[in-house]
Formats: sequence, structure tokens, C-alpha cells
Amino acid sequence: MNAPDQPQSPAGSPDFPASSAPDTPPPPYAYASPSPAPHPSPSPHPSPSPSPRPSRLSSPAYVHGYSDREARRLGDQADTLAQLLHAGTAYPAGSTVLEVGCGVGAQTLHLVNGSPGARIAALDRSAASLDQARAQLAAHAPHAAANVTWHRADLHRLPFSDASFDHVFLCFVLEHLPDPVRALTGLRRVLRPGGTLTAIEGDHGSVVFHPDSPAARRVIDHQVRLQAAAGGNALVGRQLHPLLTGAGFADVAVRPRTVYADASRPGLVSGFTRRTFIAMVESVRDEALAAGLTAPADWDRGITDLRRSAEPGGSFHYTFFKAVAVRPADGPADGDGRGRSGQHSRSAGSFSRVGSSCGMHTNSLTPGASSAASFT
Ligand SMILES: C[S@@+](CC[C@H](N)C(=O)[O-])C[C@H]1O[C@@H](n2cnc3c(N)ncnc32)[C@H](O)[C@@H]1O
Repeated sequence: MNAPDQPQSPAGSPDFPASSAPDTPPPPYAYASPSPAPHPSPSPHPSPSPSPRPSRLSSPAYVHGYSDREARRLGDQADTLAQLLHAGTAYPAGSTVLEVGCGVGAQTLHLVNGSPGARIAALDRSAASLDQARAQLAAHAPHAAANVTWHRADLHRLPFSDASFDHVFLCFVLEHLPDPVRALTGLRRVLRPGGTLTAIEGDHGSVVFHPDSPAARRVIDHQVRLQAAAGGNALVGRQLHPLLTGAGFADVAVRPRTVYADASRPGLVSGFTRRTFIAMVESVRDEALAAGLTAPADWDRGITDLRRSAEPGGSFHYTFFKAVAVRPADGPADGDGRGRSGQHSRSAGSFSRVGSSCGMHTNSLTPGASSAASFT
């Protein structure tokens, strides 16, 4: 099931809900995992930085895990932030787009909504997530079923020929990779010259909230440290420009996209502050305790304080970073001048064409699209 390089299209059914309006609750997607994978058990590991407690940070494969709860969180996140994050991204009809790390399809739904004629190859390493993604698309965007194929693969071993795609899109994936430049270099290989890569990442260093609380800041820091121990970087948003430049991309343009939520924006308070950000921090409680980063009472105090930012009188601010970069017209596909056609000789079927005439798209980064004004 979902073997690499085996395009699969979802079956169709009911209506596609309209994209979430700013500050309104997201559509009730039921992101339930058919076979959730458990969190890996922590193993003893030295702490990367000084800690007030003896730390036993583990090296799990993926800090968020693949639980039903995480699937729902990804859905809430994508739906609540759709306007903010997808504004300016619209791929032309007929263009080929690779979505890397599609997960449960939370962003795929918004991609097909914003680019109804594009042909999207959605890829993830998790078979269970791909099953959910296929089901979500069939339920909420049956009209797009024929335009999406599903691929189970590691993004470091892409089952596609050089220059197969007009565009690459990835959202909240680089933050989980130990070597983002290596990953981006591989993604550049499958882009045609002149094609674009769009990357969206968060940065937990951008969190500002009221009422402020050292205990709440500490629980956020525990999440950052656990993600680092898993090989990721929850502060990666600020690094998008050097990472993309280092991977050989040109015309790199990064813009911040800010979320600000207070009592005047109840949809954002619920959809983002509570169900996206606080839910994400809460989900690493067991790992933080097992690693010795905190004690139960300290953790609970921090979460209680953090929740105050979502109560009347509270406020919460977070900045995402959206980058668009171009594969230069000249130079080697993989940056080492040797090419990789032997290693990556399989074509993705309909995704193997080069030099599409559909290269231009509206993936703009206008100043207006980069502000929290999207939510006013
Ligand atoms: C935080 S989730 C984001 C999912 C989706 N982009 C979204 O915004 O809802 C990160 C996804 O990246 C996938 N992933 C992480 N490392 C990967 C790799 N090396 N190859 C393929 N997928 C990977 C995970 O399986 C997970 O589904």
C-alpha cells in the first residue's frame, strides 16, 4: 500500500467546504488515523544545553508523532491559517507540483483549492498519513481527485527524474530535518530550471504572549529542545534565506506572515492559539517529563499560564516565514556537477516533463500578503 513511485488517486464523494474565512472556525475535518504509530520511547541521551534538571533527551524519529490528536491539530492549523499561508500561491492549470511531507493532506486540500487545475504529486514517508490524506481529499475535494497522486517515499530518496516538476511546495517539513540544505538540494534536482520552490516554516522564537510567564516560556522551550534532540529545529523560519541560498536556489524571497490573536479574534484564539500552538506544546508533556526537562507541577503551571494567553484579556503572537525561490536555469541539478540520473532514474509518470510552458504562477510575496492584515 502506498509503495514509492506508485501514483494513487483518491475516490470521490461529498462536497468541498469553502476555505476557512478569517477568524471563523475551521470546517469539521475528521482527521482520524486508521493506524496511528506510537511515539517512540525515549532513550538516554545527553542534554544539548544546560538544564535546571538532569536531562535525558531522547532522539525520537519525529517529535509530533502520528496520533489522531496530531492529525486533528494539523487540520486545525491548516484550516485556520489557510488564508495567511496560502495567499499568493496559485499554480497554473496543467503545471506539475510536488508537495513534500504532505502528512494527512491538511495543506493538500488548500493547495487543490487554490490551484484547481494543477497536477499535484503529494509525498510523505508515512503510509498511515497518506491513507488519511487520500480519504480527506476524497471527502472534501472529490473534484480534485484526478489531479492528485500519492507517493510514499523518503524525501531524501525522491522517486522522480531530474527536472520533473514545475513547482515544489513544502510546509512545516524542514523544521523536522537534521540537514535541510541536503533536503533542499535534492528538491532542486527534481525542479525544472526556472521552476519555483515554496517553503513555509514557523519559528518558536517569535512567540510573544500576554500575560507573560517564565513558566509558560519554559514549556515552549522544552518543546524546542525536544525537537532539537529529534534532529529538528523549531527556530528554522529565520534561516530560510541562508538555507535556500546554500542549496543553490536563486531569487530567494522570504516574507514573515504573522498571526496575532486576542479576544477580538475568537476564531484565531480557538483555531490557532489553543488548538494549534498550545495543543502542540501540550503534546510533548510525556517526553518532556521522561527526558527530565521538567517536573509535573512545573509543566502544569507552565501550561496553565500559557492558556491564559487564550483567555479574555490575553493575547498571542507568532510569526511564520514563507519563502519562494527559483531553480537557476544553469548549473547542475544536484549541486555536485555529477548529476544523479543513475540514482534517481525512475520517472513519476506524468510528472517527468521538462520545460513546461506553465512556469509562471502567482506565488507572489507582496508586502500586503505578508502582514496580519489578512485577518482583519
Ligand atoms: C508537521 S508534518 C506537516 C504535514 C503537512 N505539510 C502540514 O502542514 O499539515 C511533517 C510531515 O513531514 C513528513 N516527513 C518528515 N520527514 C520526512 C522525510 N524524510 N521524508 C518524507 N516525509 C517526511 C512527516 O511524515 C510528516 O507527515
